[in-house]
Amino acid sequence: MVIDKLIQFHRLSFSEAVELLAYTGDAEATERLGAEALKLRRMYYGDKVYTRGLIEFTNYCKNNCYYCGIRRDNKNAVRYRLTAEEILDCCDNGYELGFRTFVLQGGEDPYYTDDRMVEIIEKIKGRYPDCALTLSIGEKSYETYRRFREAGADRYLLRHETADDAHYRSLHPETMSLAARKQCLYDLKSLGFQVGAGFMVGSPGQTRETLAEDLVFLQELNPQMIGIGPFIPHHETRFADQPAGSVELTLFLLAVLRILFPRVLLPATTALGTLDPRGREKGLAMGANVVMPNLSPVKNRKQYDLYDNKICTGEEAAECRGCLERRVASAGFQLVGERGDYAEG
Ligand code: 5AD
Ligand code: FES
Repeated sequence: MVIDKLIQFHRLSFSEAVELLAYTGDAEATERLGAEALKLRRMYYGDKVYTRGLIEFTNYCKNNCYYCGIRRDNKNAVRYRLTAEEILDCCDNGYELGFRTFVLQGGEDPYYTDDRMVEIIEKIKGRYPDCALTLSIGEKSYETYRRFREAGADRYLLRHETADDAHYRSLHPETMSLAARKQCLYDLKSLGFQVGAGFMVGSPGQTRETLAEDLVFLQELNPQMIGIGPFIPHHETRFADQPAGSVELTLFLLAVLRILFPRVLLPATTALGTLDPRGREKGLAMGANVVMPNLSPVKNRKQYDLYDNKICTGEEAAECRGCLERRVASAGFQLVGERGDYAEG
């Protein structure tokens, strides 16, 4: 059967993926996948959980993704940008707390020109040469990515969101395309970034087939990181009344991803923790091995409002870090302050 095949070959064709997804909600199948996922994560990463300090440095965005609370047309979003000094302060604070990876995430904000970004990257890497720097600032040209890489950025997160063309178009305005998104991911890979792709679970219009396409595309891209979390409606989007994605399906998919990509860096996401108070712990138990506590200034946390009821918006960085350390320990793992690079084999 398809689960045996997955466990044996770490591969899934489109039709096998569709077949596998029919087991969502099947307790026996889920348990088997979870056990295999844990075995594999132990093999490559022991009981370590890596931590990334997330710095949400701008919520301005020139894009208009239909699901996202900070998209351009949400005129009620209160916008902010951090200065280079403020970003470095977040890093200082994070370094003290033991973080050795910083993630600069933001909307696609034209204020941060290539020159400005290069300056920020060089400053961070100059001050913290022992830390990895991850960028998550959307679609750029090959030349821009090349400059970021040259300036010292190590990793790049850019979720593909969905690998189905029609589904992609139903989630994004005409100015955006799946082809462009994929091109960016391949450009990033060829420049030597550790690359993260991923998608929302339960986004409006998602089906078993579109999810199977996600699994097929991910096998083709073979990224070092994969970010998935449930879709959560934002009240000021056209999807305000759509149901949120399922925690159960997210957990199922985490295990499947761990088995398909045994060495992948796989976060238990904030969105998962938002829908279920123990969502991140459950994610770790299904093969996730990364958590991303928030290092952004508390005064701006609520403004980085991608979806409703986002957690960790009131806490100081130290509280967030302490909270996650306890959560990780309660799930039977150990939070470590290392760069946590991809385990090359
Ligand atoms: N619900 C869940 N995740 C969302 N993202 C954006 N909007 C939402 C939402 N409403 C995710 C996207 C994006 C990442 C930064 O946040 O997948 O890539
Ligand atoms: Fe941020 Fe718990 S992880 S408060």
